[in-house]
Amino acid sequence: MSETLKTVNQNIMPLNTKRNAKGNLEISGCDTVDLVEKYGTPLYVMDEVTLRAIAREYKDAFKNYKKVNMMFASKALMTGQIAKILHSEGFGFDVVSGGEIYTVNKAGVNMEMTTFNGNNKTTDELLLALELGVGRVSVDNFLELSLLNEVAKSFDKVQKVLLRITPGIECHTHEYIQTGQTDSKFGFDMTQIDEAVELILKEFTNLEIMGLHAHIGSQIFETQVYYDEIGVLMKELKRINDKFDLNLNEMNVGGGLGITYTEADCPPSVYTIAETILKSIEDHAEMYGMEEPVLYIEPGRSMVGTAGVTLYTVGSSKQVPGGRKYIAVDGGMADNPRPSMYGAKYEAVIANGKEEENLKKVTVAGRFCESGDILIKDIELNSPVAGDILCVFNTGAYGYSMSSNYNRVLKPEMILVNNSQSDIIVKRETYEQLVQNDCLL
Ligand SMILES: Cc1ncc(COP(=O)(O)O)c(C=O)c1O
Repeated sequence: MSETLKTVNQNIMPLNTKRNAKGNLEISGCDTVDLVEKYGTPLYVMDEVTLRAIAREYKDAFKNYKKVNMMFASKALMTGQIAKILHSEGFGFDVVSGGEIYTVNKAGVNMEMTTFNGNNKTTDELLLALELGVGRVSVDNFLELSLLNEVAKSFDKVQKVLLRITPGIECHTHEYIQTGQTDSKFGFDMTQIDEAVELILKEFTNLEIMGLHAHIGSQIFETQVYYDEIGVLMKELKRINDKFDLNLNEMNVGGGLGITYTEADCPPSVYTIAETILKSIEDHAEMYGMEEPVLYIEPGRSMVGTAGVTLYTVGSSKQVPGGRKYIAVDGGMADNPRPSMYGAKYEAVIANGKEEENLKKVTVAGRFCESGDILIKDIELNSPVAGDILCVFNTGAYGYSMSSNYNRVLKPEMILVNNSQSDIIVKRETYEQLVQNDCLL
């Protein structure tokens, strides 16, 4: 039964990862040592098989619910090719900036299948969104309501919107709390919903309200939190419909499903999450005597995290007398800010095969000029020395998308592997590109 089926987000490595006859790590038939020889390091590697597998798991898990729209949360990883692949699997996109809107449009995405989110969208971004025809704008606040109405008027359009609300549920990976109020920068407080609806109905006539949107957190391991979130959203839909004599029937529940960065992480499968969401919809539709709403889900991390690894070359090392052994790699906080930003943990291995296994506890340091640039603290690796290749798993989400040029270091290349083939999907930056926007006076 689907409930017990393991899904991609419950793996640490991409699906077809193994040691080959040379002892080298191989992903989808591509020897990582060969990849490094061909493309250099640091190198983001995305496995197309794993990417498509999770997309299909999501589709399969929700297949019995006809009114579902899968929207990949672009913030986790957005490049033209990633957009193309996920769109070909039937996904739309949650976009949060002009840049993301522009990218998905360039990739040939049907813009009707996009939702524009964000707590401070600029007028220029709203203009671009309406010009390119985003399907829904999830309106976050009162200023945006009036701005968007003006923009829609200038296009002589009626823009379909959702109201982003804070449903009073806060989730922090291992725990969640239900509160009357959520202290969040995102969305309308529950007490402000009626005023927003009234404004749309009476004043902002270039907007059409379709439903509600919420997002309760990220790297979530619990299911009950989704059940409760949906309860709050459906109760609100029912209340608004009754009070304003409307027929709102759209509900966007956001993203958040967790992934397995290390053995300590135990996220539920995509099937378990789907069952919880669908059960909650069924229960609350019955409880409130309402039709089952059109459902939007916005997974980000769980869609792309596991499909991605980063390859680095080991360089210098330092043994602190009586203390830690540091090994430094040729990347770090600029290509993956998560460890230094919020102490994120990762698994890694030495990718090149070695004669013997001789595990040593080391700390993997980045190359950037910050003491906090530590990629992995205290990990056992097969006696790493300069020239070895380090493969860090689960870097597909919020790595490249949060990367920077700190220290004026070039952003790594990203390749796509599949069936023993590899292709560049984001070129390595050049020094010329790095200075191209500098103005010398
Ligand atoms: C509105 C919204 N939807 C979806 C997501 C994606 O979340 P995740 O990557 O945890 O699935 C986020 C992440 O911050 C978000 O803010």
